[in-house]
Amino acid sequence: SLSRRAALAGLAALAAPALIGARGARAAVSGRPFVQPPLTGGSIEQGRRVFDLLVANGLHEFHDETATETIGINAPFLGPILSAHAGEKLRMNVGNTLAEPMTLHWHGLHVPAAADGGPHQSIAPGETWSPEFDLMQKAGTFWFHGHQHRKAGPHVWAGMAGVIRVEDDEETAVALPRTHGEDDFTLVLQDRRFDAAGQMPYALNMHDRMAGMQGDVMLVNGQIGPLLETDAPLVRLRVLNGSNGSFYGLHFSDNRTFHQIASDGGLLAAPVAMQGSVLSPGERGEFLVDLSGGEAAQLRAEVFGAEVMMMGTAGTRDVMEFRPRAARRAAALPDTLVELPPPPEATGEERDFSLAMTGMGMMGDFTINNRRFDHDRVDFSVPLGATETWTWTNTTPMLHPMHIHDVQFRILSRNGQPPAAHEAGHKDTVLIRPEESVALRLSFADYSDPVLPYMYHCHILEHEDAGMMGQFTVA
Ligand code: C2O
Ligand code: CU
Ligand code: CU
Repeated sequence: SLSRRAALAGLAALAAPALIGARGARAAVSGRPFVQPPLTGGSIEQGRRVFDLLVANGLHEFHDETATETIGINAPFLGPILSAHAGEKLRMNVGNTLAEPMTLHWHGLHVPAAADGGPHQSIAPGETWSPEFDLMQKAGTFWFHGHQHRKAGPHVWAGMAGVIRVEDDEETAVALPRTHGEDDFTLVLQDRRFDAAGQMPYALNMHDRMAGMQGDVMLVNGQIGPLLETDAPLVRLRVLNGSNGSFYGLHFSDNRTFHQIASDGGLLAAPVAMQGSVLSPGERGEFLVDLSGGEAAQLRAEVFGAEVMMMGTAGTRDVMEFRPRAARRAAALPDTLVELPPPPEATGEERDFSLAMTGMGMMGDFTINNRRFDHDRVDFSVPLGATETWTWTNTTPMLHPMHIHDVQFRILSRNGQPPAAHEAGHKDTVLIRPEESVALRLSFADYSDPVLPYMYHCHILEHEDAGMMGQFTVA
């Protein structure tokens, strides 16, 4: 339609100047040694695994001899990798030393609403919040990040995020690389832009407001272009797209085939061969990469924003380099990983969610079923024990990665077609492209609360902060 075309043209004009700097840019790897956040098992108190997490302002050296102001968790930028076993009882002690309220949310974990760390669990300056919950997950790569109302964007941009690594017996029984730092590596991928003083102020221009905050510098665990030298012939990469608004098409410089073994919520049925993988903000993937040939390979990202359908890509960037120390034989990949049952049968409601956009630029608004987020409005209630079907339809010309708290869901279909193999497993964040309709099956079990809600929202943090979020209770 005419108005739709006008909307497309208008967006493209807004987007163009902001992307010129990034377009085609390919920063070479810096050669700095690859580092990961420290992996910690916390401490054990009376049979409970306890993690102490202190959120504080910090200074981090992204560029040589430049101290950049950040927010970190037990570190100047980002937080530790929390390691725990499925079935354990956890306590998180989250201390806020900032001068403003904040929260930490356990993205992907099935926890009671009161322990979720969403906007209703705000922690005042100087306070400590100590939720307790059972770790009811399959083995996989989860994460935690700031979720204060209207502050998710700036808090995560400044560094308020970390990874949760869950293990279980089912995963341990499969022959896979799992030795942290030897053949198993965690990669938090983010992009940032720096000003002339080397700072990364959070100031949204019109393009950021529409597409989400993006930068022209790629970070891996807070480092620019690291180099990983390794003896391992087969490496496992646990990759989190922890960016505010950037989508990554990941591939290698030699276009080698690699395999995805896990999605957001755990292992897939079998390794899926691919030469490229798209990760939206909030999504995780675990991948096996064969380095047995001894050839170095650069991991690259085709970086694009929510407005991809008009703009094409914003350029290809080197993310990091893998350099095997020698050629050696790699172990064969397992043929199968875990038993993946079909999605559960529906027992409850079918709900439809329409993603829409009104206005442009600073006037632009993103809505779900024509509503913006209201902290005091619960949008609907799901009966405890129900298995429902939620269908998301995107009427905007932009990409939206939709995330739902409390559950790991299954994708039933995209525009009527069954999901690709790498999307057929457990998910908590799903990319909805323009004009797509994506049906999900979700089961709501174990926890109910008549008052406190869970969130569902776009994981472009600027869309979330602008109100592309709703809330539901399980009661
Ligand atoms: Cu990763 Cu509601 O968030
Ligand atoms: Cu979440
Ligand atoms: Cu969005």
